[in-house]
Parts: sequence; C-alpha cells; structure tokens
Amino acid sequence: MADFGSSTQAVPEVRDVPRHLAIIMDGNGRWARKRFMPRVAGHKRGVETLRRVIAACIERGIEFLTVFAFSSENWRRPPEEVSFLMNLFVAALSDEVARLHENGIRLKVVGDLGRFEPRLRELIAAGERQTDGNRRLTLTIAANYGGRWDILQAANRLGQAHPERCGQWTEADLAPYLMMAHAPEPDLFIRTGGEERISNFMIWQLAYTELYFTDRLWPDFDARILDAAIGSYRKRERRFGRTSEQLRPGAALSPPEVPASPHNA
Ligand code: IPE
Ligand code: IPE
Ligand code: MG
Repeated sequence: MADFGSSTQAVPEVRDVPRHLAIIMDGNGRWARKRFMPRVAGHKRGVETLRRVIAACIERGIEFLTVFAFSSENWRRPPEEVSFLMNLFVAALSDEVARLHENGIRLKVVGDLGRFEPRLRELIAAGERQTDGNRRLTLTIAANYGGRWDILQAANRLGQAHPERCGQWTEADLAPYLMMAHAPEPDLFIRTGGEERISNFMIWQLAYTELYFTDRLWPDFDARILDAAIGSYRKRERRFGRTSEQLRPGAALSPPEVPASPHNA
C-alpha cells in the first residue's frame, strides 16, 4: 500500500490542480421537486452528472475523485427512496464498469458494504477487481459510508492486529486501516446544493482540505463550476499551520514539522 503521508505530520506538496477532489453530490431531490418530478428523478439525473464530471476530472489531470453517494444516515429516508437508490447503484455499476475500465479508471467503493444486497456486493467486488490495475483516475464511491464509522472500524482493526501497542498507536499506525488508505488526503472538497456542512463525510481525511460550497444543485453541476472551484482553490494559501511569510520563496526552512508531544511521539 502506497504511503501518501499525513498533512498533520508533514507539509504536503501543493499543486495547481488538486490531486484529489472530494464531492458531496447534494441537491438531487430539490432539483426534481423544482420540476414537479419525484425526488428520485433527481438521483437518476445525478448519475449522468457524475459521468460528465469524471470526464472533466480526467481532462484536468485530477488523479483521485471521491464522491459521497449514500451516507450511513441516508437509511433514515423513506424506504421507497432507499430502495430506488440501491437499484440505481446496481444499474449504474452494471452499465458503467466496462466504460470505466476502457477509460483507465480504477473503481473503489468505501463504506460498510455488509448492509447491501448480495447482488450489489458482488457487482462492487467484480468492478473493483476488473479495474484494479488502472491508474488514470481513481474513482472512489462512498456508499453506506460515515466518517465516524470509518475511524472506529480502523481503530478496532488496529486494536485487533496490535493489542500489545495499545496506548502508543500513532497516526501512521492507524492510516492503513482507514477506508481511504489508497488515496492521498483530498486537496479540494466541493459540496453542491447550498448546505455548508460535512455531513459525516471523510472527517479524518478532510483535516486540511480546502472547502468550496456552491448553491448549484448536483444535477446542474458542470465543468464550468468545477473550474470555478479549482480557480478558487488556486488562490488559497495552504499554510498547514505556518505563517504567510514562511511560504515566500527563499524563506528560511521551518523548524521540525512535528514537535515531539505525547500524542504524536
Ligand atoms: C443527494 O441529494 C443524494 C443523496 C443523498 C443520495 P439529496 O437527495 O440529498 O437531495 P436534496 O438535498 O434533498 O435536494
Ligand atoms: C449527504 O447528503 C450525503 C450524500 C450526498 C450522499 P444529505 O443530503 O444526506 O445530507 P444532510 O442530511 O442534508 O446533511
Ligand atoms: Mg441532501
């Protein structure tokens, strides 16, 4: 497993184009309601938006795209909507995996998959297997995913693997057990639909991610708004705890990045 490093342990390289983009695709229901259509029509349209956004990410040289498709809290929705979303997931995987593979895209699905129907779990496993060697873009779909669940499952697995070191675990010990261990931390996060919250998405990995919120509803999201988000990202000063002066070319190197403390010894 590649070690992508941690933004709280060492200052990461900053590029002009985000290497990893994370998106909360929100606003499908409202998009449909505005058109007097059932909410689920918005979800269907949302899959088409995702297809276009994947292509736009590849064109822009983004290497990792992670999208929130279904949260661990979305089971609270009406059963008809949940079952429509599950069927849509099955249909999208059946239709799209071959195309993802042809385009050099690696598929990953992260979340507590145990609650899904066997058919869906099989499609996920087959899709991941088929595309495992691709590296043009890694598309990660977060499904029945919750950030707190992720941290807990990682801690529990680490505890089982290394009970003898309980009390001395470090970030680096936990990292390989987190669901997103195959990707660097997101550089840019976009949430559509106007809400300005994280809704239990990658709460560990978003520690130093640049956040961008847009009122645009997900089915109406397009490459222009993606470019606006990237443009905003480029203007940000990613300091990772340092001062602006320290970022200027020729500035003296910062002192050791991780001061010794009982928490990160
Ligand atoms: C996001 O759109 C998709 C899922 C959560 C599955 P919503 O369904 O949350 O749409 P709004 O927020 O109700 O408009
Ligand atoms: C977050 O959207 C989850 C997904 C987009 C899959 P929600 O629409 O469920 O979020 P809340 O409940 O409004 O915060
Ligand atoms: Mg929503």
